[in-house]
Order: sequence, then C-alpha cells, then structure tokens
Amino acid sequence: MKPTDSLLLLTRVSATVVAILVITWALYFTTSFHPTHTLSQRDLIYSVLHPLLMVIGFILLSGEAILVHRWLPGSRKKKKWVHLWLQGLALTSGIFGIWTKFQGRDGVVANFYSLHSWLGLFCVSLFGAQWLMGFLSFWHKGEVRMTRIRVLPWHVFLGLYTYGLAVVTAETGLLEKLTFLQTKGVVLKRCNESMIVNGLGLGLAMLCGIVISTAISPKQYQTTPATKVVYSDTMCLTS
Ligand code: HEM
Repeated sequence: MKPTDSLLLLTRVSATVVAILVITWALYFTTSFHPTHTLSQRDLIYSVLHPLLMVIGFILLSGEAILVHRWLPGSRKKKKWVHLWLQGLALTSGIFGIWTKFQGRDGVVANFYSLHSWLGLFCVSLFGAQWLMGFLSFWHKGEVRMTRIRVLPWHVFLGLYTYGLAVVTAETGLLEKLTFLQTKGVVLKRCNESMIVNGLGLGLAMLCGIVISTAISPKQYQTTPATKVVYSDTMCLTS
C-alpha cells in the first residue's frame, strides 16, 4: 500500500469514528440538548442539529473536499469540479448550522457572548470568501497561468488554516457545552456522556492532523500528457 493510501485510510477511519461519536451523542443523550426540559420539540431539533451539521456537514465534508485530489481518479477538471461542489455543500451546512442557533427562543444577541460564537462567525465567513474566490477562478479559464500558480499556495494555506480553525471552533463548542452541563449538574464529570464528548474532541484533533498531513504529503511523481508539473521551493503544483 502506498503511503498516501494508508493516510487516506486513516482519514476515513477517524472520520467514521468522529461521525459515530457525534451521532451517538446527539441522538442518545437528548436531555443534554434540553437540560431544563422547558424547550419545545422544535427548539430541541435545532439544538441537536447544530453539532451534527457543524461536525458532519462542515468539518467532515470539507476534509473530504480538501483531499479530493488524492482520492478521486480522473481528469484535473473533474477533480476541481468535485472539490468546488463538496466545499460548497460544506459551506451550506456551516451556514445552516449557524442559522439553527438563530432559531432558539433567546434569539441572536443572546448567543453572541462566547469565544465559540465569535470564532464560528470568523471561520464560516473566511470559508465563504475562500469558496467565492475558488468559484470565480473556476469560471475564469482565461486567467493568466502565472497568476493562478502564484495564488495557489495562498489558496492551499487559507484552506488548511480555515479547516484547522473549524476544528478549533468545534472544540470550543464541545468544551462550552460540556462545562455548562457539568456545572449545572446535568452531566457527571465521569460518565459515559462526558467520555463520548471528550472522545469526540480528541477524535477531531486527530482527524485534523491526519487530513493536513495527507494534504501536504508529497504526491507520487507522475506525469500524464494532460498534466503539467510545476515545482516551487516547497510544493509540487499540477495544473
Ligand atoms: C465548525 C464548527 C462550529 C461552528 C463554526 C460553530 C459556530 C457557532 C456560532 C456562530 C454560534 C453562535 C450562533 C448564535 O449566537 O446565534 C454557535 C453557538 C453555539 N454552538 Fe457552535 N459551532 C460549531 C460547532 C459546535 C459544536 C460541535 C458544538 C457542540 C455542541 C457547538 C455548540 C454551540 C452552542 C452550545 C452554542 C450556543 C452558545 C454560544 O453561542 O456559544 N457548536 N456556534
């Protein structure tokens, strides 16, 4: 097995563990999502949807999108197209995930007190701006080749930075929620639920490292007639 294939396998295994943990938490520990039992069924659904959309829709999907060039066979154009639309889906989940928090009975202003909410807004805005730039460059085929080559390292840097930021934001969300539940006595410090949430946080941190190392690991040196390879000091760009 090639080193990239092992890294890809590891990514899929950790992503599956993260998905199982967040689904288990959201579906089997619903009391944590309406601790005072005063929330309506509708508020409970919005409250459960937020971590599900952010972790599975935003983080896991954008991780897959980052690695498209590593796992998807076919032409470069096809890879770019799938990369763009997977990132678009991730962005839609992120926006919808934040929107669910605006639906709570406390409204928008009541929530925007935490570092988590500030980081979340910053992260999704940056992600949106990056996606828009990618979308525009996808449709500007006539763009000067050198300009695209010069911009690519910045695109890669910003993409990985935003991905890392999304994981950090989710960690602060998990910490905030669990600390709140433990302080209110809804959840014990040592219990299955605390272990699931801590495991989820650890899983996300590990996944982030694996996705980034897979993304920056050197590609196999191979050129097909349709692929030109351009070397910079630090990375190999195909165009
Ligand atoms: C990339 C992942 C995430 C992003 C970008 C994000 C973003 C946000 C934003 C922008 C808000 C404020 C919404 C408002 O005030 O109306 C918020 C609120 C909240 N989020 Fe997240 N979130 C993420 C993951 C999570 C996770 C995994 C949890 C775990 C349960 C979580 C729990 C909460 C809670 C409890 C609130 C309400 C309290 C507060 O505003 O801090 N979030 N989130």
